[in-house]
Order: sequence, then structure tokens, then C-alpha cells
Amino acid sequence: MAIKYNADTKTFALETADTSYLMKVSRYGNLLHMYYGAKIPDQDLDYLLSFQDRGFSPNPNEAGNDRTFSLDFLPQEFSTDRSGDYRTPSVEVIWGDGGTAFSGKVAGYEISPGAAEIKGMPGLQKNGKEQVDTLVIRLEDPVSRVEAKLFYTVFEEKNVIARSVILANYGTRDLRLERLMSGTVDFRDSEYDLIYFSGRHTMEREMRRISVADGIHSIGSTRGSSSHQYNPFAILCEKNCDEDKGQCWGFSLVYSGNFLMETEKDQYKQLRFQAGINPKGFSFLLEPGEEFQAPQLIMAWSGSGLTGLSHIYHRLFRENLSRSPYQKKLRPVLLNSWEAAYFDFDDEKILSIAKAAADMGVEMFVLDDGWFGKRNDDCSGLGDWTVNREKIKIGIGKMSEKIHEMGMKFGLWIEPEMISEDSELYRQHPDWCLREPGRPATRGRYQLVLDLSREDVCEYLIETINHILDQAGAEYIKWDMNRSITEAWSGLLGREHQGEVFHRYVLGLYHVMDRVILTHPDILFCGCSGGGGRYDPAMLYYQPQIWCSDNTDAINRLKIQYGTSFAYPPCTMEAHVSVCPNHQTGRSVPLHTRGVTAMGGVFGYELDPTKMTEEEKEQCREQIRFYRKYAKVIMEGDYYRLTDPYENRYFTAWESVSPDGKKALLSIVVTDKEGNDAQRYVKLKGLNPDEYYRIDGWKGKFSGRLLMNAGIPVPESLREYDSLQIGLKMV
Ligand code: DGJ
Repeated sequence: MAIKYNADTKTFALETADTSYLMKVSRYGNLLHMYYGAKIPDQDLDYLLSFQDRGFSPNPNEAGNDRTFSLDFLPQEFSTDRSGDYRTPSVEVIWGDGGTAFSGKVAGYEISPGAAEIKGMPGLQKNGKEQVDTLVIRLEDPVSRVEAKLFYTVFEEKNVIARSVILANYGTRDLRLERLMSGTVDFRDSEYDLIYFSGRHTMEREMRRISVADGIHSIGSTRGSSSHQYNPFAILCEKNCDEDKGQCWGFSLVYSGNFLMETEKDQYKQLRFQAGINPKGFSFLLEPGEEFQAPQLIMAWSGSGLTGLSHIYHRLFRENLSRSPYQKKLRPVLLNSWEAAYFDFDDEKILSIAKAAADMGVEMFVLDDGWFGKRNDDCSGLGDWTVNREKIKIGIGKMSEKIHEMGMKFGLWIEPEMISEDSELYRQHPDWCLREPGRPATRGRYQLVLDLSREDVCEYLIETINHILDQAGAEYIKWDMNRSITEAWSGLLGREHQGEVFHRYVLGLYHVMDRVILTHPDILFCGCSGGGGRYDPAMLYYQPQIWCSDNTDAINRLKIQYGTSFAYPPCTMEAHVSVCPNHQTGRSVPLHTRGVTAMGGVFGYELDPTKMTEEEKEQCREQIRFYRKYAKVIMEGDYYRLTDPYENRYFTAWESVSPDGKKALLSIVVTDKEGNDAQRYVKLKGLNPDEYYRIDGWKGKFSGRLLMNAGIPVPESLREYDSLQIGLKMV
């Protein structure tokens, strides 16, 4: 059993293959955090705690004359508010009388087999016969009879602990919940770096590493979606931690809405890490008998550096997250019409692009935005999900038939959560969008956001999207979301519930996705929010791949895909070859390199092949053949970042190795070049040191140990933006 309770020492121990997580009930019933890291024997860690009389650190009433016990410096598992801990708490409530003090004392616990259910939200699931158990610790506020139930699901062999919290109002009075973090971890020291992934539209998830400093550092979103600006994933690591060595802790929030991740270095140089729904814009009324659940927080520890941590998340996300049967399948090489035609097309143009794509060996054609309503630009049409007969005269069903006749699958773009003011839907239901009464609604890309906190809107969406799916004959759907939420006010909720709208929107979205995506297991869904604005594990639960970024520049993409890879495996990152000069940056990069970068993820195209030369098309045919040869290694293998694009300005290299270590693919892109340049080398990783490998196109065989220690030279003949892919096979 991965979960133990030692009644003598009052210690809970959660054990995975390589880690221990320990908590202890204090002498006054508080739950203290004792340890999270490398596996240690189950013993009393009381000696680690320091009890001292510290000035201005209050003592709980039940401590009597004991001035050495204060929540102000003890490491806590669930920090409550206004009861002596001045660090940011895990929970904040406002009672009916305006009071705010909350005290959580251990009232009991249960251990059960299997993963915890996260009500109304995605969560990890058990995969096959692996050992998964859940501990629930109940903390009670004795005055109000409100309970916090702390959930810990232990994925033993995966080295993962998934947390969640339910706040249950078993009392007799209403309470207003202002903050409920999914997880709090108190470290006794703070000599750590914080790694997070920030950015903007068309430049998402740039890796940032900062030293944890005194005070509070927060990242998060208040945009209604997990956002381009910060990803809900962060790492704390030792100062000397790099790809291959050092301790690091990962925190991944399974949530697609407003979130907060925060480090707080306190007066005693201790560190608190917290993650959960962002309290800004959040206030939930809980009547007697009601409860609120916080989204799941996935924690992992690695003692072998950042690569080890990424491998834990990659494996977990491949095996325990997605509900799509496509998760385990190789994905079709697709061509998407967006950068090929934008809004400027009719059915003839689309069919000629599709024909040329089929001729190139593309396996699926995706018709992007512009096929419905009066959608000739982005000013109108969202909400009117019927085909635009002026553009697609033959209709979508016929279009899909013709694509199928060309031997390809058919995919379609939708953006169900949005509404254009110039649409039939808006004319019929102007009250269905989020907006505050008496105020003009703020627009984003000319559009407004449907109020998914409303049941009627969700039911309408379920019926409408299911109808599109049944009519379209599509094997793939790209689900887009192209603006941030502003006025989160709902016409159907009373004044006292308006602070719930952001979260209710997310719950509404998951409900719609449950009823649309999970009822269509044969369709491959791709997530998108102006590229990677909603790249989070909750979306991956529904959609096994996500359009990584609206930026298709092969050089910018190196950084975007590098940052994305810390948490998310290549099989989740849709990446396409587009034309040059690139539409986002104006940069020109050889077609070969565009292919190499796009093969860092789920490979496809985003261009008009009717405008390509025969020679270019032949190059694409070759790319598709090459991708097919290595698709399994890329999708299922272990991914290694061989260089850091922020440190090495000369080249970026990465590698995928099959789980059995027999096959590998090394990719190198030259990002800068100097005259009479130094000879540079790249050292491989993940090979079997005791075996020999043949390298495609090279004579002889090379030992894994040699390739990993001496490396191979980056050929001097490569010019700026040139690239190289090298296949390796164990002899
Ligand atoms: C944003 C997406 O990221 C693009 O790929 C494209 O689908 C457009 N939306 C269409 O409006």
C-alpha cells in the first residue's frame, strides 16, 4: 500500500517508487507538512521541527501558556486564515457575520483504492493494473462545522501525487469562499529557483528561471482561460539543478480557467508554494449542505534533474490523462487551410488545395475558419454554425465526401464558445453573452463570449455542435477560442453569485466537452486558443493534441516547443510547416528546416500546395515519408532537450528515443552562424551505453557510450537556419 498512517507518530506517509511525502498531526490537531522528496524510511520526523518562542508569532488558544507553538513558522499542509499564520493561506472564507477566522483540525481520514474523482472537472485516471490509491484527510473547523477534505491520489509507479480539496459546508450558516488552493507545499528552506513558462499570443511558454526571493512571486491568469501569458505549470528546483542532475518539484494544475501559482519566501527563509484557482475574480457562496471542489494539482519530484521530471509528466500525460482513443494512435499528417487561404476561399479553391495536398501524401485535410454563417472576415458569423453556401456551394457533407474520395480524412474548425454581434444567434439571443447590465460589452477580435455558466447556453451548444459533427462527416475537429473573457457577469445569476461566473464558465465548458467530445470517440479533437492560449492538462483530457502556437516561424517555434516540452510530450504539440517569408515574422528558413522543427511534434502543413513548385512538393513528400518512419519514436519515445535555446545561440538540438532504446532521432537546427566558426558537438542522451548504433548515412557503428560522452560534430557545412535529422538504430 502506497499510503500509510502511523498512529504512534501520527504521521501520514505517501510513498511512490522513488518519493516520500510525509505529514504529521501536531499536538493540537493541525496537519503539518513534514517532507517531500527522495524516498526515505517511514519514521518520526518530529526532530526537524523547531519550536521556539518567536516574537509576534501568535499562539493558538488551545496551546495555553505554550509560547513555542505558532502556525506562523510551522510548515503546514493546509494553511488557514486569521489563526496565527501570516503567510498567504490555503483557504479564505467570510462567514455570515463578517468574520473570517478558520481553523482546520484533523478529524479523520480514509484510504481507498483508485483515483479520486474531481467533480465536474478532468482528473487523472488509473491506467491498467498500476497501483493507485487515494487518501482523504478531513480537517474540521470546530466552530462552524465546515470541513476541508484534502485528497491525495498516489500513482505509485508513476512517482506522482495528485491533490485536490473539497470545502464542505456542514454548518447551519452560509459562507463565502474567497480562496481555496488545490495544494500548498511548505519547504523548510528556500534556496531554490522557480521555473515557469510565460509569453504572449504567438510567443507562448518561454522558459523563465528566477531565484526565489523574499516576498511573494505570482504567476497566473485572470483572462478566463489558462492563457498564453502563463502556463499552469511550474517547477521549483535546487540551484545546481539542470537537465541531468539535481532535485526538482513539478506542479501542474488541471484547470483551463483563471489560476494562480505562487512562491512565498517568509521571514525565516522558508518557502511556501501554492497553486489553485485565482482568487482574483473568484467568490463562491456556499449554503449549508453545499460543497466546492478545487481542481486537481499534479505534483512530481525528480532527483535526476529536469529531464527526469519531464519524463514523469510525459508518461503520465500519455497514459493517465487523455480520454481520447487517439492518444494511443499515430495521428494523420494534416494540411490546414488557415495560412493557405485565411477567409478568402470558395469550394473550388479548397478542393484544388486539397487535391494538391493529397498528391503530396497528406493524410487529412482540415478546413479552418470561414466556412459557416456570413464569415467572410472575423467581424461576423460566430454562432451561425450552418454552411456558408456562397463559399461552399456544394455544402459541407459533399465537401467531406470529395475529400474522402481523394483518399484523405476530413477535418473542420469550430469556435463554439463565441458569438459575433453580426450573427443570427446574437439577433435571437442578445442576452446569451457575458456582459454587465447597462454597459457596452468589451470586444475581442470583434467577438463576444457566450455565457457558458448558463445551462440553456450549454444545452444549445451541445445540440448544435453534435449536429455539426453528425452532418459534417469529419474525422477531426479543431476547437478554437479566440479571446480573453472580460465582463464575467451572467444574466441568470443573482448578485451574490456573480463571483462564481469565471469558474462556472469553465465547468460549463467541461460539461459541453463531456457531452460532445467524449460522445464522439472516433473523432480526433485538437485544442486551440489562438494557438496555445489554453494549453493545459484539462484540455488534454479531452483533446489529445493542441495547436501549439499561431506562430509557425520555425526558429521562434524552437523556443516555444522547448518551453512546452517541460510538461507536455511531443504527441500533444501540433506543429506545421508554413510558407516563407513566414506570415508572423517575415523570416525565411529552408523548407527542410521547417519540416525538422514541425517534426518536433504532431506533424502537418499550413500552406497552399498549389503555389509550390514540383521540387518543393517532392521535398514535402519526402518529409512525410521520413515522418512516418519516425512517428512512433517521436510520439511514444522519451524526449530529450539537448540544448537550451536561450543559452546556446548557435544551434538547437533535441532527440527522441524509443522506449526500448533501440531507435532514436536526433534533430539539429542552426540558429546563428559566424565566419570561420568553431567546431561544435552535440552529445546524445538516452541511448544504451553498452550497445552499438548505426547512424543513417554514416559508415560503421558507434557505441552508445561514445555518442553520449563524446557526441557528434555539428557539420560545419550547415549554414544559418540549416538543419539536420539523424536516425540511429541499435545494431
Ligand atoms: C486562431 C487559430 O490559432 C488559427 O490557427 C486559426 O484557426 C484562426 N484562429 C482562425 O480564426
